[in-house]
Amino acid sequence: MGWPVEHSRSPLLHGFWLKQHGIEGVYELLPVRPEGLKVALRGLAARGFAGCNLTVPHKQAALAMVDHVDTTAARIGAVNTVIIRRDGMLEGRNTDAFGFRENLRAAQPAWRASIGPAVVLGAGGAARAVVAALLDDDVPEIRLVNRSRDHASALAAALGGPITVIDWSRRSAALDGAALVVNATSLGMTGQPPLDLALDALPKTAIVNDIVYAPLETPLLSMARRRGNPVVDGLGMLLHQARPAFAAWFGVTPEVTPALRQAVAASLVAR
Ligand SMILES: NC(=O)c1ccc[n+]([C@@H]2O[C@H](COP(=O)([O-])OP(=O)(O)OC[C@H]3O[C@@H](n4cnc5c(N)ncnc54)[C@H](OP(=O)(O)O)[C@@H]3O)[C@@H](O)[C@H]2O)c1
Repeated sequence: MGWPVEHSRSPLLHGFWLKQHGIEGVYELLPVRPEGLKVALRGLAARGFAGCNLTVPHKQAALAMVDHVDTTAARIGAVNTVIIRRDGMLEGRNTDAFGFRENLRAAQPAWRASIGPAVVLGAGGAARAVVAALLDDDVPEIRLVNRSRDHASALAAALGGPITVIDWSRRSAALDGAALVVNATSLGMTGQPPLDLALDALPKTAIVNDIVYAPLETPLLSMARRRGNPVVDGLGMLLHQARPAFAAWFGVTPEVTPALRQAVAASLVAR
């Protein structure tokens, strides 16, 4: 459910797994206006659904509309997955932190959050999931850089832990000695300006992860790749965040395979 929702790659992704596992099911896009969300959620079970995903602008509003919110979703302050339980109750979860972590682990198996400071750019919904995942993995320091400093301060206050809020104007200097940089702003996305970031202070060993996945190769990733940093794109996070949802709805834990990645990546190029 989203408004708009036509851009979503999730039907392709879940459709791939349904076919692969021979499950007779469908994953449909439901365009739902914000004022219709509560009714749409309550009507899911009667329409035979096992649950749904939520995307913009419903993730925060749904927190107050489901019967149970799991601890991760409560901490992140957003629900991206709804499960209809056996007793008919609606359970809200958030799988973005899982997706972020699993993608990094799959792409850079030697990486551990504990190895050094992380710079996170952005303080929106996605940044909250990234920060929560890093804190859970015992990151020693998070340098949180955002255009609106008050949004970053609110995120730091909500999640706690070793977070230093840094002014947007100091973003390039904040890279000094970092082990990981994550772009969790919308900059670099198709239709948005590129992220203006000088990488000179960043160690060449630091991993650069852009969670923007359209385009797959963002200007940030190209720049980092050219200077020899290991890079991780955002598509893997999208694919991995879908796994726990699929498992909860259909009872099978699916894998992220090269064939799946290729199918979804091709759809990004096609649009
Ligand atoms: N790979 C994945 O699975 C995945 C999952 C979720 C999201 N994403 C991507 O992550 C990005 C952020 O998503 P979101 O849901 O967190 O969005 P959001 O809640 O709207 O947050 C947007 C963030 O970008 C910053 N920003 C926007 N325009 C800016 C500009 N011109 N200059 C500087 N900063 C700017 C905002 O700063 P302010 O606070 O100052 O407004 C905010 O920190 C999107 O591109 C989305 O597609 C990817």
